[in-house]
Amino acid sequence: MILRLLLWWPLPALLSWAFAWALFAGLRAMGAAPLVALLFAAAAGAGLALFHAARWRRLIVALGFPLSLLAAGGLPAWLWLLPLVLLAFAYPRRTWGDAPLFPTPAQALAELPAIAPLAADARVLDAGCGLGDGLVELHRVYPQLAQLVGIEWSRLLAPLARWRCRPWAEVLRGDMWALDWGRYQMVYVFQRPESMPRVWAKARAEMREKDSWLVSLDFEIEGQIPAASWQLPGGHSVWVYRPAAQAVSVSADMG
Ligand SMILES: C[S@@+](CC[C@H](N)C(=O)[O-])C[C@H]1O[C@@H](n2cnc3c(N)ncnc32)[C@H](O)[C@@H]1O
Repeated sequence: MILRLLLWWPLPALLSWAFAWALFAGLRAMGAAPLVALLFAAAAGAGLALFHAARWRRLIVALGFPLSLLAAGGLPAWLWLLPLVLLAFAYPRRTWGDAPLFPTPAQALAELPAIAPLAADARVLDAGCGLGDGLVELHRVYPQLAQLVGIEWSRLLAPLARWRCRPWAEVLRGDMWALDWGRYQMVYVFQRPESMPRVWAKARAEMREKDSWLVSLDFEIEGQIPAASWQLPGGHSVWVYRPAAQAVSVSADMG
């Protein structure tokens, strides 16, 4: 129970930073030169970062101590908490439950229009649009679309995506689960495997137009046969579903 609590992100990051700081202070108290103490503490932070599988968590854990030391140079010591505050702002707790910020790679959707052709008046949503990379790719492959919409929970990322994708996409700040997906002919998601059953349930409930499409980067919907799927270089994959027209399913819809 205590171990589970300790692993509750971002506690591991905080504890790693605190450990690096304690090591730094301890070495300094023992008379070590500032640079030596800094190198040892930064190396300890980097070592702790290796326990994390996700690249973004590794970066946060490894960079926390040196960045906070930099920020705290000549300033109050509590300022080392600043990166965490910034992180919480950029990346509020509720979005961690769905997906961290990983951008859609360029060219990832190059094949999509051949599978899922869209008319110029089709509405397309990137649910959880992050910094707008998915929108950029959707705009690239469907240049004719006049109604490209992204929704992003983070108060920092949403305005950045809005600025980046103006004027060809509209970016909303809000919860993708609260938005009605029925208004969109295609919903694109790049979330997490754990979110996919909820994505599917929502798409099935709301996307009732026969020719609507649900597109997922990397994560399939367990038990559903995709209308199409293909592998991309770099280990990515694209999964295309037809929420309204989907007749065949392996598990959930059988009963
Ligand atoms: C893996 S990133 C994908 C970003 C973008 N779709 C792309 O492909 O480049 C997932 C994004 O979903 C956002 N997100 C997670 N849960 C969300 C929610 N409930 N509502 C809105 N955005 C959410 C996260 O903040 C993150 O920016």
